[in-house]
Amino acid sequence: MKLTQLAPFTFAVGSGKGGVGKSTVALNLAVALSRQGLRVGLFDADIYGPSVPIMTGLRRLEPPIRTDASGREHVLPFTKFGISILSLGFFIEEARSVTWRGPMLHGSLNKLVTDVEWGELDILLIDLPPGTGDVPITLSQLLKIHAAIVVTTPQEVAMLDAIKAINTFSLLNIPLLGVIENMAGFTIPETGKTYHIFGQGKALELAHRFSVPLLGSIPLIPDIRRGGDEGVPSAFHKGDNECGRYFEAIAANVTQQMQNKEVSYDAHRK
Ligand SMILES: Nc1ncnc2c1ncn2[C@@H]1O[C@H](COP(=O)(O)OP(=O)(O)OP(=O)(O)O)[C@@H](O)[C@H]1O
Ligand SMILES: [Mg+2]
Repeated sequence: MKLTQLAPFTFAVGSGKGGVGKSTVALNLAVALSRQGLRVGLFDADIYGPSVPIMTGLRRLEPPIRTDASGREHVLPFTKFGISILSLGFFIEEARSVTWRGPMLHGSLNKLVTDVEWGELDILLIDLPPGTGDVPITLSQLLKIHAAIVVTTPQEVAMLDAIKAINTFSLLNIPLLGVIENMAGFTIPETGKTYHIFGQGKALELAHRFSVPLLGSIPLIPDIRRGGDEGVPSAFHKGDNECGRYFEAIAANVTQQMQNKEVSYDAHRK
């Protein structure tokens, strides 16, 4: 099934500011949502530095291609950690810096939207690049994006960039589902003392300002960074684990918000 035929709930995960943890949150949230029994796809649309291949241990792998009877090729996403995964990084050389011209970006994203066989999905999460540029605009022309989730650190500068991203979503008629605070503080395990390295409070302020919920707050946890570098998302765990609990709580809030908004599949088909 193609995205243009099927209408899963499609969420853009953005931030405005780079490095605040969009990809980490998108990936771990995808894993946590799949653990709730949902069929989840993750599309890494970061044209500048797609990081999902590394974060999922799929670096330098090419996704399988299925050629149909008419000779047309269809890309099949990888299935790992219970989710379907596709990244622009699978199609561009890692060390090469790519300067995307408008038509080239549009063409590539269009091809991915129309030629990827995601199978039946309930939710598609799109990991956006930093900034407020071409990608959300182009994607919103190609498929219906039901809502945006904004990730921010608790600092002023991240909040200001997040506001710019939210304004772009608003111009594109993409409602804001909620805000996720990341890197909220670091607690020294031995002493229990918490240091608010990136400040405090701005994510909540942002949520209040746009009258949306704070979907969750994730502290700085070395295991989250380690999971990303080692290619095993920290939310993918057996049994109880601290990182997993944060993402499970956020996943529960996301599905709750989806129900509150009563987004209907048919009403949102493009
Ligand atoms: N809560 C956290 N605790 C510890 N490390 C984290 C946390 N969130 C993210 N990181 C780490 O911070 C780095 C940046 O995260 P990530 O790549 O997800 O950010 P991003 O917003 O997607 O960046 P970009 O703007 O480049 O796409 C990564 O090394 C990641 O493992
Ligand atoms: Mg990223």
